[in-house]
This record gives sequence, structure tokens and C-alpha cells, in this order.
Amino acid sequence: MNAADIRKKYLAYMEKQGHAIVPSTSLMPDNDPTTLFTGSGMQQMVPYLLGESHPKGTRVTDSQKCFRAEDIEEVGDNRHTTFFEMLGNWSFGDYFKDEQLTWMVDFLIKEVGLDPERMYVTCFIGDPNNDIPRDEYTAELWQKLFKKLGIEAEIVEMGTEEQGAEKGMGTGRIFYYDASKNWWSRAGTPDNMPAGEPGGPDAEIFYDFGTEHDPAYGENCHPNCDCGRFLEIGNNVFMEYIKRADGTFAPLPNKNVDFGGGLERIAAAANGDGDMFKIGLLWPIVEKLQSASGRSYDDETDRYAFRVIADHIRGAVFMIGDGVLPSNKEQGYVLRRLLRRAMFYATELGLSDRTLEELVPIVIDLYMDVYPELDDARSAIMREVVTEEEKFHKTLERGRRELKKRIDATGHLSGEDAFVLFTTYGFPLEMTIELARDHGIEIDHGVYRDEFEKHRTLSRSAAEGKFKGGLADHGEKTTMLHTCTHLMLAALRQELGDDVHQAGSNITAERTRFDFTHGEKVERDVLDRVENFVNGAIKAAAPVKMVQMDKEEARAQGVEGSFWEKYPDTVNVYTMANDDTVYSQELCGGPHVENTGDIQGVFKITSEKSSSAGVRRIKAHLE
Ligand code: SER
Repeated sequence: MNAADIRKKYLAYMEKQGHAIVPSTSLMPDNDPTTLFTGSGMQQMVPYLLGESHPKGTRVTDSQKCFRAEDIEEVGDNRHTTFFEMLGNWSFGDYFKDEQLTWMVDFLIKEVGLDPERMYVTCFIGDPNNDIPRDEYTAELWQKLFKKLGIEAEIVEMGTEEQGAEKGMGTGRIFYYDASKNWWSRAGTPDNMPAGEPGGPDAEIFYDFGTEHDPAYGENCHPNCDCGRFLEIGNNVFMEYIKRADGTFAPLPNKNVDFGGGLERIAAAANGDGDMFKIGLLWPIVEKLQSASGRSYDDETDRYAFRVIADHIRGAVFMIGDGVLPSNKEQGYVLRRLLRRAMFYATELGLSDRTLEELVPIVIDLYMDVYPELDDARSAIMREVVTEEEKFHKTLERGRRELKKRIDATGHLSGEDAFVLFTTYGFPLEMTIELARDHGIEIDHGVYRDEFEKHRTLSRSAAEGKFKGGLADHGEKTTMLHTCTHLMLAALRQELGDDVHQAGSNITAERTRFDFTHGEKVERDVLDRVENFVNGAIKAAAPVKMVQMDKEEARAQGVEGSFWEKYPDTVNVYTMANDDTVYSQELCGGPHVENTGDIQGVFKITSEKSSSAGVRRIKAHLE
């Protein structure tokens, strides 16, 4: 069964069990300052796990687009990918362990057709320090479920991963591991969780590909060994705890289930081949690369390049489909890095400079029935990939010359040099290493990593600012300017037309910096009218109200927003209006003042200039 069929079957199966199918959210999370990308299915579910009611009820299911930037350099083996889909189902205080594990076993064995003899499972050993009991209920439930399949399953105590490697799995099938393996929260183990974070014990399902154990990973093999024999294909989290401020654990308002299973991994298990790149959603990309290069994926020396290109182009297509553009910071930086690494490995395979753009339609066609946003963004995706290809190949020669110059001058290439080559010429590190090797030189990895880390920390902190809705903080002054910014956008749209939308914002206690889509200079008299509108709204003392609305309804009503596709089904709409005038109505994550009359001072626009092609930038403050 191929991956697309598995996705369909899973959603249909869960629908049959009373779940509402909800759409995947964007790869760029809203209102989650903890991460640049959506990396798991449960991210959009956090409020409901904490006790809020989900608009679709107590049972929901989906297939979520996920991206893990931290795995970029892991790509190349048989199982790491940056982009993946996570199948998920949730119970918000509805069903619990019995239903969840019964369904999962039923789905994997009966619907997907996996061999039960190859299935191994785990559960939580308990954490006495935090007063969290051992999950005996789950161990016994697993035993009953295996018995129904005609398998006598033995329960074995493992502990940590290291203890597992020491003991070996013997004849066991159900294994108790500690919190480092069988506890799930966004922050890891109970000890690592911050106050207010939800978490719980989990029960994982592993598939045995039957390959030989690699002792480089430990003396004995066991389900949580990384040698590649076992692959985790599903994680059932029993999300029932929350950490208190005093460090102890309290029960959440509901006992919830949070299931996540990697679609690609389940498909690999269904294939009986641990190589994820052989599944139906990746193999067509590899095939195209084979025919274009005349090289073979079976040839071990080239396989790494095939895998990197296939993974990276898929991730890049999805990212641009969600509105990311190549740049030198935040998500745009990760996107550019993906494209450049893919282009570099394409040159390694002797492929043409235009290879990536030939892969774009393959990826879109594989996914567009489930993720129509890719088809909608087809021309934008093509344009961005072509532009990056042109830029990259143009600087390639200049970069090569620069590299040679540095080597000729000093006889070596430092980590800092490598970093400059990356930031100025877009040379990915692996490419610099290869080229330096041609000159018989090894570069100092450590210094490069330090430089790179510095750079990454900088872009992270910028990203965090951005996720607060462009607000530097939630102080009173910043909040006032945030409300003014909404009023300003409404006025700009009145003056300049409906094509004007927000393109970015950055708000501090001192000023608001606001980017918007508009092709030409905005004259001072227009800016004066915009100021008057904002100051008029402040005088009018209009209440600011937030309501949750169905996304499509909000859109139909003309609520202002950009990147609609990034938002979940239900959106927050902020309206600033009194009885006779609606001053502003916009999608937003807040915070705002409660009444425009709370804004102290006179709103003043201090500058207006071009920001980038088709985008203008205004700076304004309160005097
Ligand atoms: N939150 C769990 C995971 O990401 C299950 O969805 O693995």
C-alpha cells in the first residue's frame, strides 16, 4: 500500500470512529514562539489539550505537514527527512487508552497489512521522583491485544536506552522504558518541562525490519536502538498531566489522547523496506533524478546526493507553498539553505543548472489533491526556485574564485572564511569542504560551527519577536502602538485600495515599523489623512473586541488579513468599532488595548519609503 493510500485510509478509519477531519495548519506556526516551524501534529491542539473546547468536538484527526530544520544535516541515511507528514488523532477528554490502542493495532494490522510478528511496543516505567506511576494498565492492555493476534507477548523492563542496550530484548515484545523514551511533552521529560506545560506517559509502536544489529550503536539491539533495525511508527501519548509552578504535577482538566505517527515511516513498514526514499511520495523524485543524470540510486556513492536532493526539494516546495520566501533570516534562511544544498548535490551528480525546477511539478502533482495550496502557489514556487537557481549559479563562479584567492593568500581556509563564503556567496558548508579538498585543504569545522551558531541565534531571536505578532514585548506602550497599527492599515486601505495588505511589522515601545504591499511612494497629504483617521479613532474611544469566527465566514465578510491559508479553521478577529463606524476589523493574535480611547498621545507618521519590490515601509510613533 502506498503512502497516499495509507493517509486516506487512516483519516477514513478515524472518521468512522467518530473523529472530525481537520485541515493541516501551515508549516509556519501562529502564536507559537517556541519554534520556527510546525514540527508535530499536536502543536495546533495545545489549547484543547489544556481544556479549551475544540470547535469540532472531542474527537479530531488530521494529517499535519511538519518540518524539522534540526534534521537538515541528518538527511542522507535511509530514514531522516526534514519534511514529513504526521498522521494524528486526538481525544479531548473523550476515549482513552483502551480505544486508542485497540484502534491503532487494528488499523496497522488489518488496514495497512503490517505483520504483527514484526510489531514491538513500549510503555512508561514510572517516575517516582515526580510521583508519576508506572503505566501497568497499558502493559497489560498491550498483552491482551497481542493475545487476540495469537501472540504471547512477554513484558520486559528496560529503563534507559543504555540499559536496553546492556540487557538486550531477549524474548520480550512489550518494554518498559523511562521518561527519556516514554514520556512526551514539547519540552521533553517531566524534569525538563516548564510550569504550565502539558505532558504524559506514552506508548510507542515499533516495526522490526529484521536487518542485522550494528554494534556501533550498543552491545545489543532493542526497540529504542538507533541502528536502523527498528523504526518507531506511532506514538500514543496519554496527555493527562500539567506541571505546576512549584514543580509538582497536577492532572489536566481532561484525560486526553494525542496520537502521532509518521506517514512516511508507516509507508516504509508497509513496503517492508526501511528505506523511506522508496515510498510512493519520494521515489518519483529519485526516478526523475536517475533518468536526468544517468546515474543509479543503487550506486552507494551517489545515494546520499539523491536523498538530499529529493528531501530538500520536497521541503522547499512545501515551504514556499506556505508563503516562505528565500532570505537570510528565519524560515527564509532555512529555505535558502535547503535549495542551495540541493543545487550543490545536483552539480555533484552532474545534473544541469535547472534541475530543481524540473522537480517542482513532480512534488506538486504528488501532493496537490491533499494540499491544494501547492497548486495555488505553483507559479510562485516555480518563480522562487528559478530565481534561486539563477542567483546560485551566478555566484558559484565568483565564490570559487574567492575561495581560491583566500587559499592562495594564506595557504589554508579558516572556519571563518567558510562562513563568509556561506553568507556572501551562499556556499553551503559541504560545498566549501568539497572545493577546499580539491585544493588539498581541510577546513576547521569548529570555528565554522561557532560562527554559524552565532548567526543562528541571531535569527532565532528575530523570529521570536516576529511570533509575538511583530511585537517586541507586551508592554503598555507597545500594545498601544499595535492597536494604532491596525487603525493605520485600515486607513491605508481606504486611501490606497484593497490591494494594500500587511507584509510585515515590528513594534517596540518607541515606534511601529510597518511594511505593506503597495507599488509606489505614498504622498505626504495621504499620510496626513491616515494620521487623521488614526487620531480620529482614538478620540472616538471605540471599544476593541475579539471574537472567534469561522475562517471562511470572516473572509467572506471582508475581514482584513494576509496569508489566510496559514490560519486554522477558527480565527481570532479584532474589531474596533462604535455604533456608527467600524474603524478596523482584522485577523490577529493580539494583544490590543481594550478601547481606542486608552491610547495616549498623538499618532504621527515619521517616514515612508520603499522596503523591497512592491513593498513600502512606514515608521510611526505616539507623541
Ligand atoms: N505529540 C506526539 C508526537 O509528536 C504525538 O502526536 O510524537
